[in-house]
Amino acid sequence: MSDCAGSRPAPQRVRVRHRLHPVVPIHYFGRSQGRRDRPVAHIGDKKRMSLLVRVNLALIVVFAVGATVTGFVCRTVLEANAEREIRTEAGLMMDSALAVRDYTAREIAPLLHAQMQSVFLPQSVPAYAATENFLRVHDTRRDYSYHEATLNPTNPRDRATDWEADIIERFRNDNAVHEIVGERDTPMGRSLFLARPISAQPECLVCHSTPEAAPATVIEKYGRNNGFGWQAGDVIGAQVVSVPIAAAETAASGAFRTFLIALSTVFAALLVVVNLVMYALVVRPVRRMARIAEQLSVGDMSAAEFPATGGAEIALLGRAFNRMRKSLDKALRILENGA
Ligand code: HEC
Repeated sequence: MSDCAGSRPAPQRVRVRHRLHPVVPIHYFGRSQGRRDRPVAHIGDKKRMSLLVRVNLALIVVFAVGATVTGFVCRTVLEANAEREIRTEAGLMMDSALAVRDYTAREIAPLLHAQMQSVFLPQSVPAYAATENFLRVHDTRRDYSYHEATLNPTNPRDRATDWEADIIERFRNDNAVHEIVGERDTPMGRSLFLARPISAQPECLVCHSTPEAAPATVIEKYGRNNGFGWQAGDVIGAQVVSVPIAAAETAASGAFRTFLIALSTVFAALLVVVNLVMYALVVRPVRRMARIAEQLSVGDMSAAEFPATGGAEIALLGRAFNRMRKSLDKALRILENGA
């Protein structure tokens, strides 16, 4: 090439020089006048967002969308779990009540038969056993309760409250309804109730039809006014179990909060790592390259070598720039020598 340059006639060389100007960054000459000696503090176009800002914005958008979707799914699952848990508790209480009733009818009542000839022992009554059992549970767990709610009870403590009477009415009005589940506010907080109907069977009528039919011991203890007039097949009351909702809901929102904190922590760690890696592997080497390129562009050939560090692609670019710089150096020298 040197031969060629040397042998070229002068006008041609001038043309080459003119053509070369755009290669030696023409606009940098203009912009860099007067700040040649100043280190290039800010590389990049201020109007454009830096790479790190873009990456961070993209990550934040992905996180925001991801957190919203997973948060929604997680919340729905946790709420469904909490509801299932509460219903399971209520079902378990109902099953225990039925078990106590059954145990009393099969095992306790026959044992008390002899004593019952002289005095009526309520311990033989399944409804009484279940109620007493859960009153003891209620002593330690105030927000759990069980009630043998009855419209016309033998024992006044079993009288249905207004809302229980409504439930019994619903069972009476529709034989197909075997269970009612609902929520209500109580002084102990919101609670879920599970109710099942109690129907009078023919064998119940011994004690629950008329005072005349009832054993004298029952009349003696409970009087003639309550718990009579039941008809076989009629729904006379309901077993009502109440379970607190607050505890399960608090646990669900606690779990949700923990999940959000964990998710945010992972995201924050990811953000820090991505920033550090991006800075070390891309931003810093590219900035150095830009600084060197800018120095070269204003003719400062003392600029350092382009760094061949960072990610493989950046290192490749650095090496390519170094080669280009050498070629440029050579070309300029040839031109200078030629001129
Ligand atoms: C031997 C008499 C007797 C028979 C039979 C009997 N009960 Fe009772 N029942 C009572 C007595 C007494 C009470 C009140 C116990 C107490 O002190 O809580 C009672 C209470 C109840 C209660 C709680 C509400 C209330 O009235 O205080 C229900 C519900 C009940 N019985 C349902 C039945 C059903 C259903 C049957 C038939 C499967 C039945 N009973 C058979 C004597 C009887």
